[in-house]
Amino acid sequence: MRKKIVAGNWKMNTNCQDGIELAKAVAEEAKALPAGTGLIVAPPFTHLFGVSEALKGSKVELSAQNCADHVSGAYTGEVSVDMLKSAGCQWTILGHSERRQYYGETDAKLVEKVRLALEAGLGVILCVGENLDEREAGRHFDVCTEQIKNVLYNFTGEDMKRIVVAYEPVWAIGTGKTASAQQAEEIHACIRKVLSDKFGAVVAEDTSILYGGSCKPSNAKELFAQPDIDGGLIGGASLKAKDFIEIALSF
Ligand code: 13P
Repeated sequence: MRKKIVAGNWKMNTNCQDGIELAKAVAEEAKALPAGTGLIVAPPFTHLFGVSEALKGSKVELSAQNCADHVSGAYTGEVSVDMLKSAGCQWTILGHSERRQYYGETDAKLVEKVRLALEAGLGVILCVGENLDEREAGRHFDVCTEQIKNVLYNFTGEDMKRIVVAYEPVWAIGTGKTASAQQAEEIHACIRKVLSDKFGAVVAEDTSILYGGSCKPSNAKELFAQPDIDGGLIGGASLKAKDFIEIALSF
């Protein structure tokens, strides 16, 4: 049975002190969650060690928002998977559209990053999704299929046990414009089929596929009720502990 997961991507928001307060509030509110729901927060790099301390004893897991594509060495400004592990992370988000769009993250680079993260024992939340032009041109299924194939087809069914996919249509991120439950469901079902084609039905059925893009307490229930939507990757609404937990209670 695949896991229900709600993950909060804080992006470049909060300072260290505010971030630790937010993590403490999330840990407190998370006590209301049923055992089967996984909760993850992904603060900025600078907060990770402090947040991991604040989350100790809670059921909230810790993720980074990115990692380096090298093990160590002369890569000024980069943060390695070993650093993330030592800061207390269990996960890293990879391939977020903001990294693809603003920082030139390619599928080829993502293969390296996923490989390093898995080797370090980190779980991966791999983001895929089409932009507005691609959707308007009717290419959304092809774009998501290509992104999945280019990255995940380099891995094994065993690797997939530590990989979660997040479908985030770029036009729905931070815009207040959510994909309808039906628009999201049809892409999620397509992603699951693409996974099934390579890894078989059992692995595909066991992979959690999250929706991201203006997901909030008012629309989470309808999205999470879809058969192939296993939770959410939440941006703006994850910065308020109560909203974040309300989303996690929407299954
Ligand atoms: P919003 O929830 O702010 O639209 O952001 C979604 C997102 O990009 C999560 O990674």
